[in-house]
Amino acid sequence: MPTPSVPDFLYGTAWKEERTQGLVELALRSGFRGIDTANQRRHYFEAAVGLGLAAAYREGVVTRDDLFLQTKYTYLPGQDHRLPYDPQADLSSQVAQSMASSLEHLGTDHVDSYVLHGPASLDDWTEYDAEVWTAMVRERDAGRTRLLGVSNISVEQLQQMVDSGAESPAFVQNRCFARDGWDREVRALCAERRIVYQGFSLLTANRQVLADPLVAEIAARERATPAQVVFRFALAVGMLPITGTSSATHMAQDLAGRALTLSADDVSAIESLAE
Ligand SMILES: NC(=O)c1ccc[n+]([C@@H]2O[C@H](COP(=O)([O-])OP(=O)(O)OC[C@H]3O[C@@H](n4cnc5c(N)ncnc54)[C@H](OP(=O)(O)O)[C@@H]3O)[C@@H](O)[C@H]2O)c1
Repeated sequence: MPTPSVPDFLYGTAWKEERTQGLVELALRSGFRGIDTANQRRHYFEAAVGLGLAAAYREGVVTRDDLFLQTKYTYLPGQDHRLPYDPQADLSSQVAQSMASSLEHLGTDHVDSYVLHGPASLDDWTEYDAEVWTAMVRERDAGRTRLLGVSNISVEQLQQMVDSGAESPAFVQNRCFARDGWDREVRALCAERRIVYQGFSLLTANRQVLADPLVAEIAARERATPAQVVFRFALAVGMLPITGTSSATHMAQDLAGRALTLSADDVSAIESLAE
């Protein structure tokens, strides 16, 4: 199986509906090599992601081996009526069915990362999560994903997962609020366990940061936008950022932001900005 490395930026495909195919193609043409989706029709149109990939392959923009494809298994309460599995089936079977459906949507025999969209409970890592995780490990062992991840997880749940003896995820994907020190506790546990932290809603959850004079000053100095400074900051603290932009200009800006120079002082000032 080809082993594309993990890219340093992911393009997120939620809420794109009928624009999904074209935006995936545009993101690949713009230079993104990592795509985040989910087999959750309520918020994502995974089959249209696959059509965007197929168009990009056909037009010679990229090959499958160039890409990092990530999708998710979503529990029943997170879904609408458009289910990728039999709701009567046990959880292990649901995971297998959801994965088979994702591979069909994405036109591939394996994804690069398979993510549990969120634990079953808000408070704990439960026996349901343990069952799903075991099924996900089985998918990985069968070669249908290279890596595994968990999303929307608190530091307590991640600690419980680790303490249960479950295999550590390769990724945690969380909404990243500056007011929580940019998810400082989860990021610290991830760093300790060598888990890569994927941050989403870096712009939409942190509008006050985008309007902050310090960020404006750094942006002016770097001839950049505040959004670029936030994404560059995310990289500097070891995150794998996700952008969900629908704009070609913002796609180019988000990727170009990787070249900005932030000093250690800039990084620590932004890290403690909203606390
Ligand atoms: N695991 C989960 O539960 C979960 C939940 C939510 C999201 N996600 C993933 O994360 C992805 C991104 O979601 P998100 O919440 O971060 O973003 P989002 O809701 O898709 O929104 C990104 C926003 O930032 C703006 N933007 C992006 N780049 C910009 C730039 N350079 N300058 C100014 N504005 C810019 C976009 O506007 P324009 O479109 O005008 O650029 C858009 O309004 C999703 O597509 C999905 O893949 C996962």
